Order: sequence, then C-alpha cells, then structure tokens
Amino acid sequence: MSRDDLFRAPKGVHDVLPPESGRWTAIVARFAERARRYGYGLAITPMFEHIEVFQRVGEHTDVVAKEMYELTDKGGRRLGLRPEGTASVVRAYVQHRPTPPWKVWYVAPNFRYERAQKGRYRQHWQLGVEALGVADPDIDVEVIALLAGFYRDLGLTDARLLLNSMGDAATRPEFVAALRAHFVAHGRALGPEFLERVEANPLRVLDAKVPDWQDVIESAPQLTEHLSDAAATEFEAVQAGLRALGIDFELAPRLVRGFDYYTATTFEFQSDALDAAQNALGGGGRYDGLAEEMGGPPTPGIGFGSGLERIVLALEASGVPAPASGTDVFVVDGLGAEGGTTVGGLVEALRSDGFAVDRAYGGRSVKAQWKVADRSGAPLAVMVGRDELTRDAVAVKDLASGEQVEVPRSGLVAWLVQRREGRAV
Ligand code: HAM
Repeated sequence: MSRDDLFRAPKGVHDVLPPESGRWTAIVARFAERARRYGYGLAITPMFEHIEVFQRVGEHTDVVAKEMYELTDKGGRRLGLRPEGTASVVRAYVQHRPTPPWKVWYVAPNFRYERAQKGRYRQHWQLGVEALGVADPDIDVEVIALLAGFYRDLGLTDARLLLNSMGDAATRPEFVAALRAHFVAHGRALGPEFLERVEANPLRVLDAKVPDWQDVIESAPQLTEHLSDAAATEFEAVQAGLRALGIDFELAPRLVRGFDYYTATTFEFQSDALDAAQNALGGGGRYDGLAEEMGGPPTPGIGFGSGLERIVLALEASGVPAPASGTDVFVVDGLGAEGGTTVGGLVEALRSDGFAVDRAYGGRSVKAQWKVADRSGAPLAVMVGRDELTRDAVAVKDLASGEQVEVPRSGLVAWLVQRREGRAV
C-alpha cells in the first residue's frame, strides 16, 4: 500500500463532514424526538462485546459467520466489533435487569466486512429501537408506526412496508423440515454451497440473492401457511393494528431477514430510490428467545434498525433538500483592533441568547468579511461599525435581499427573536 493510501480512510468506510453532516444532525434529532414521544430512552452500549454475544444472533448467518470483525485484546479476550445493535441491547438488558417493559433507542455504528458498494459499507450507522418485556401485538404496531412516521416526517414517502411472520417455537421445526425437504428434492443440482446452506439452516436460503437459486426459492413452502393458531391470531392482530393506523403494508412471505433470532413479526421498509441490491431502508422484528439464550429470564422483544447512510441516499435520490446551514447570524467586525472586545462580546452574548453566530477571524478587511458572510448561509449579518457605535446601534442586513436597517444594540436580541418568529417589525 502506498504512503498516500495509508492516510486515506480504509475501503468501505467514510467520513461524514459538514455540510453533509448537517443532514445527519437533523435526521438524528428527528429520530430522538420521535423516540421520546413514544417513550423510548437512549441506550448507549459498547462498540465491542465478548464474541459470544454476537454469535448468539446466528452462527449460520453471513453477518456473524463471514462479516464480523473479530479481535483478541492484549488480555487474550475474544471480542467482536458490533455488527448490529440488538445483541448488545439484549446483553445490557440481561446484565442490568431493568423493570420491563424496557423501551430504548440508539444511534450507533456497526461493522460488517461486506463487499463495499454504494449503500453497503464496512462501517454503517443505524438508528434503532428495542422494546423488551412486552408480548402484546400492540407493541409490534407501535414500533412499526414509530418507524413509518419517522420516514414520513423526513419526506421519504416512497418507503414500502413489507410484513411477515416467522411463526413461533412450536411451529418453526415443522416449517424448517418442510423447507429442507423441498430444497433437497428440488435443488440437488444447485451445487454444494446450496446444499450446505440447506443443511445448516434452510431459512437462510430464503433470503439468498444467488440468481440460480431463485426458482427453487419461489416454489418453496411459505412460512405463513405453517403458523400455529396462536401465531396466526397474533399476526392478524398486528395487521389489524396497522390498518387501524392507516399504515399500508404488503405481505411478504419470503421475508426472513438476516438473523436467526427472529420469531413472529418481521418487517422491512424498502425504497425504490435506493439501488435494488440494497434497497432496505430499515427492518426488524420480534426476537422472543434471545434474552433467554443469553442467560436472562424469558423476555419477548421487538425492534428495528434503520441505516443512516441509506436514509441519506434515499433523501438525496428523492430530491428532499438538505437543511440550510445552521448559522442564524454572521457578525461583521467594522471596528478592527480599535474595537477591543466589543465585537467578540457581542458574538458571545448572541450565542448565549441562543443564536447560532459565526464571524470571520484574523483581522480581515470589512469587504472580505462581507464575502465570508455571503458564503456562510446565514440569513442575516450584523455589522458593528464606528458610526453605529457612536449611536450605540448595529446595522442588520438581510443577506438575501440586501436590505439594511439600524437597530439599537440593547434591542438587538428582541429584534432577532421577532424576525426569527416571522413577525413584521
Ligand atoms: P439489518 O437488516 O441487518 O438488521 O440492518 C438494519 C438496516 O441497517 C438495514 O435495513 C440497512 O438500512 C442498514 N444496513 C445494514 N447493513 C448495512 C451496510 N453494510 N451498509 C449500510 N447500511 C446497512 C439489524 O441489524 C437488526 N439489528 C435490526 C433489528 C433491531 N431487529 C430487531 N431489532
């Protein structure tokens, strides 16, 4: 690797910098607000865990078997970098035993050694929620409604909801056996990789993307035909709940998603604004056995994760404009060295009053400062010049229209507040 390459971000990872990061800030803030309204608190878990925590989510899944970043620390511990958020949150639940229902949200990076391409990265960020300790279909509906509303708020109106049920522990073995029999009977010619996957876990074949396998996948038995009465009733209740909230969905009997922990409801939002191979904006489902597998009490759970980079790509593709620059006011220093701390003091005071304020540095000429002000994206500039100072005033300029007014210094904050609230002054 050349020296130049060493000092570039590794393949499949990327920096998020201004102004693009402005969009990230806005998305995360909206998600945090939505999670708050639904009663979810923030959970921050470590970026690495004992490797067994992640192996629990499915030793036969690509994410764990092939893509996990594994390391051994100097104490000889085998650790894994988090490939997904659910395992860490459930580990935290099992460790701390909070009183259920326990509803948390997160924003966190995940690491998967994937084939890097647009929309698929080796470090990606997820916004997600997990709700533990509730078996009621109402919580399935709540979790899906939270995500649907979040996408709607962002302007991602083309996000399609796919819904499936993975059944329950009672009926899964019967379904898996039927599936295995089907694949063995009809897929013998598809080669050793196919047969190995069928042997390890035939559910994992259902979501395989290999083109040659699609015919035998298409004709496979469907999960929803093998539901127990209890699982079918629960699935009906989830669908009725979504209909009652006016949330459209399509039944997707082959939606199994990439982890072994799923039971009952699974769902995914897909967007046609994304490339077909990675069109999932976000997805999730129930995992009623996971806490117990980690040594905790039997605890139902449901949640989702939504890729932040994918949300950004979908917003860009849908033409949703990025939020404007965060600066409210640009302060132009017309006093120079003679002004002492006058301008610095004004900037600091406005910031204390809650305005996002920027300025130029390094004693630049007033003309140069106006140029920076124009480029700053701020709607307004405040100029402190010698003339204004003698009248204890400042000049306020609308940077879009060029209109300028003089405002007494003592009334500046009130003027800016009124202006921000859109009232005529
Ligand atoms: P997942 O489907 O593997 O589920 O990931 C959730 C979302 O993360 C995907 O829908 C996609 O938007 C994004 N994503 C996944 N991998 C990548 C990648 N390599 N690059 C960019 N974006 C990616 C989970 O991780 C589960 N923990 C979701 C869950 C929560 N289920 C229950 N609770």
